[in-house]
Amino acid sequence: MSRISIHGEWSSRMAFILAATGSAVGLGNIWKFPYMAGQYGGGAFVITYLLCVIIICLPVMMAEVMLGKRGKSSPINSMQHLAEETKQSKLWVLLGWSGAIAGFLILSYYSVIAGWALAYVPELASGTFSAVKNMPSTEIAPFVDSIFNSLVENPVKLISWHTGFIIITMIMVAGGVKGGLERAVTFMMPALFIVLLVLVGYAMSTPDFMQGFHFMFNINFENLLYPNCNEQACELSGDGLLAAMGQAFFSLSLGMGSIMVYGAYLPKDASVSKVTTAVVFADTSVAILAGLIIFPIVFSNGLEPGAGVGLVFKTLPIAFGQMPFGTLFGTLFFVLLVLAALSSSISLIEPVVAWLVETGKFTRITASILSGMVVWLVGLTTVFSFNIWSEFKPLGGLNLFELIDYLTSNIMLPLSGLLIAIFVGWLMKKTIVAEELNSSSFSFGYRIWYFLLRYITPFGVSIVFLNAIGVFS
Ligand code: TRP
Repeated sequence: MSRISIHGEWSSRMAFILAATGSAVGLGNIWKFPYMAGQYGGGAFVITYLLCVIIICLPVMMAEVMLGKRGKSSPINSMQHLAEETKQSKLWVLLGWSGAIAGFLILSYYSVIAGWALAYVPELASGTFSAVKNMPSTEIAPFVDSIFNSLVENPVKLISWHTGFIIITMIMVAGGVKGGLERAVTFMMPALFIVLLVLVGYAMSTPDFMQGFHFMFNINFENLLYPNCNEQACELSGDGLLAAMGQAFFSLSLGMGSIMVYGAYLPKDASVSKVTTAVVFADTSVAILAGLIIFPIVFSNGLEPGAGVGLVFKTLPIAFGQMPFGTLFGTLFFVLLVLAALSSSISLIEPVVAWLVETGKFTRITASILSGMVVWLVGLTTVFSFNIWSEFKPLGGLNLFELIDYLTSNIMLPLSGLLIAIFVGWLMKKTIVAEELNSSSFSFGYRIWYFLLRYITPFGVSIVFLNAIGVFS
């Protein structure tokens, strides 16, 4: 039986690659990856991240795209249909639901951070950061700090930018698969890539490029395993490993339905393995480039690699302040970052919007507005986590923003990835899986993939989880 998507289809295979890359490449690569690598000590985090991408996430991504391609609808309805088809428990629909919830939670804070990027557009355009050119080097770090802090400490500013970003997201999602999603990503991905290359060029000209490079690729597992090391004691923690795996899922938009719903709009004859490999390659390159840009700037200007969520917003403006045509490039960069965030945010909300439309009770427009309002409201918790509620730490010493991030990236996404691996690897009929992948189940690539998905992914995710809750210590 062959189903069709009521939401339309991508006009070409390339359109899917662009859209899925648009979903994957975003704040996760440029904002989150560098600051997490910085906090967990650099090389060890980066290498673990890369390992997770290749042996855990790539197989899951193929499986997730394949599920969407077979289910042809929102993740909730796809999972319901696939559970019936596979004669498995109805409870598998919960995988769709938990994805929908994770998407709302992630977007709620994603929008606030994208709001920072929006706020930085006028900041760069007005040339604020050119001031660093004539500054003694000791004053540069406090200067960029103060600009960042005056933004995040002001709830009214944050709410305004957050609102702006949600509204743009809603407008794009309301445009539908071809009208809104596809048009946006075609031009901005290449543009973003070019600006990143210019920045790498700048980073290479800074005095401490090599130090930044080493920081990213030197394998120092002690820092990963003991992130809270001080002179007296090192507390063994699996948190760094968990964070690296969570980041791999986050960066590739996995385990939440984004990639599944995009797979649902894929034409029947598209090759899943080729398109996913292209997406993984693009996403990973952008993250690595972002690191190669940011860490040399960190070391060349006496900043802290572990500076946390503000890292990108404190380092890149220095580069733009110092380089020729910095005002122009800086403005362009933050515009592109907002666009990259936008092509991710639409994929975070698309599963829910598609589902609302499928219930037959809502038009695409009402569905977008409704979901946007809910996300906006939840986002206020993140807004306040940076100012009036910054000391409100209900659990594990984490504020609300950090809790939402931890819960989604480190727990919900990898757990869904594990369930996807089990469903596709162990429960679905092998013939159906091979048919949707347009591959023979005897081909070499297929057999490697199937092996990774059945054994390595579940094993890997479980080990990291068990390690994080301290089973091995
Ligand atoms: N991957 C995107 C980024 O790196 C964010 C994102 C989009 C996402 N869809 C997702 C993260 C689904 C997790 C799950 O910025």
